[in-house]
Amino acid sequence: TGAAPRITVIGLGYLGATHAAAMAELGFEVLGLDVVPEKMRKLEQGSAPMFEPGLEELLRAHVAGVEGSTGRLRFTDSWEELGAFGDVHFLCVNTPQKHGEYAADMSYVDAAVASLAPHLDRPALVVGKSTVPVGSAARIAERLAELAPAGRDAELAWNPEFLRESFAVQDTLHPDRIVVGVAGPRGEELLREVYAQPIAEGSPFLVTDYPTAELVKVSANSFLATKISFINAMAEVCEAADGDVMKLAEAIGYDDRIGRKFLRAGIGFGGGCLPKDIRAFMARAGELGASEALTFLREVDSINMRRRAQMVELTRDAVGGTLLGKRVAVLGATFKPDSDDVRDSPALNVAGQLHLQGAQVTVYDPKGMANARALFPTLGYADTALDAVRGADVVLHLTEWKEFKELDPAVLGEVATTRHLLDGRNTLDPQLWRKAGWTFRALGRPTA
Ligand code: UDX
Repeated sequence: TGAAPRITVIGLGYLGATHAAAMAELGFEVLGLDVVPEKMRKLEQGSAPMFEPGLEELLRAHVAGVEGSTGRLRFTDSWEELGAFGDVHFLCVNTPQKHGEYAADMSYVDAAVASLAPHLDRPALVVGKSTVPVGSAARIAERLAELAPAGRDAELAWNPEFLRESFAVQDTLHPDRIVVGVAGPRGEELLREVYAQPIAEGSPFLVTDYPTAELVKVSANSFLATKISFINAMAEVCEAADGDVMKLAEAIGYDDRIGRKFLRAGIGFGGGCLPKDIRAFMARAGELGASEALTFLREVDSINMRRRAQMVELTRDAVGGTLLGKRVAVLGATFKPDSDDVRDSPALNVAGQLHLQGAQVTVYDPKGMANARALFPTLGYADTALDAVRGADVVLHLTEWKEFKELDPAVLGEVATTRHLLDGRNTLDPQLWRKAGWTFRALGRPTA
């Protein structure tokens, strides 16, 4: 075999920035490009454009120009340079939900392909990682053949990414499995070379056709969303019957066909992936004439949204029936802990609903404040959990940061106006709070 393939990464968000740094860590020469200049400027200095545990360390170890780095990771804004440099080009741009529709917005993917293709004048492999509607890969392969001077030597592979935010570095370096959808042998060969190290460590390597690879990603996310909504549906029944969904989840989870993971009831799933992916999947199935197969996902989505509404209801109850002028402390703004990501965050959605209904909301989050402020500028914000709780009529725990688990209920009790705690994530200990004089309520659990 010849020299190691040179790698480019297009789109440097949670997925792309992590992928680029991980590829450099695996020993490859990497060139990254993003159309947002501020992101590039941060990365060029070895700092992460978002909070993701371990990412900044990895960047500092490899970004060229950072003292003591390997220099294997560089950035450019020139598509020409990118095309000339790379043997394998990873497409990591986002495919958000279209405004006012369920479908995915493919414009960033299409624009990236249109910008890159004219510079592919020798054999190269383009590897799609973005989550796309099934059928996109076949369409993109045709466009590459049309637009690239190399014609059919500009090949396409589809390699869905399963990383979780807040574990992005770990998941990228040690993936559960590697799935590649290919149309010819060259794609498989090159990707086996790129992923040699994880494969050697035991990550299964599955080779499929394009549509299967595209579907693996959305079906995995649909399954995960369904698991969360299943337990949240059980939480609704528990609330009606005075049962305890936490005990129920533990008990069914010991059956290893069910498993204990992803059965935590609460205000449900959010983030940049699960909500939009199940919606885009439904939209695509409709176009394919298979919408009936996915009608259950509509229910999964509505159970998820109902949990947010239930949290608003519990809050109204706690403050005596009307939210008008009531002071609500919201602990947590991000869609999950150890992330600064507030995209479709259940916590902020609940905070926003309460604000619309006249409550005076004060939010605190360890890492998500800047993003939350930008998205919901009209909410109140505090610099610490204690400051958020000061004067509150009710306290809502909406993102399960470790910091909140370690709060002292007695100390908070001294600054709150009323000791009402509502746990939207089921990670606080009811006994601890009740002992300190708090009324403690949680989704899917008995009132006392
Ligand atoms: C998800 C998938 O896990 C990942 O494989 C895929 O590549 C992208 O989408 P991510 O969005 O980072 O990853 O978050 P994840 O950890 O899956 O959590 C999603 C949401 O579900 C969060 O809002 C979380 O709070 C919620 N959740 C998770 C629950 O409400 N209960 C659970 O038991 C688990």
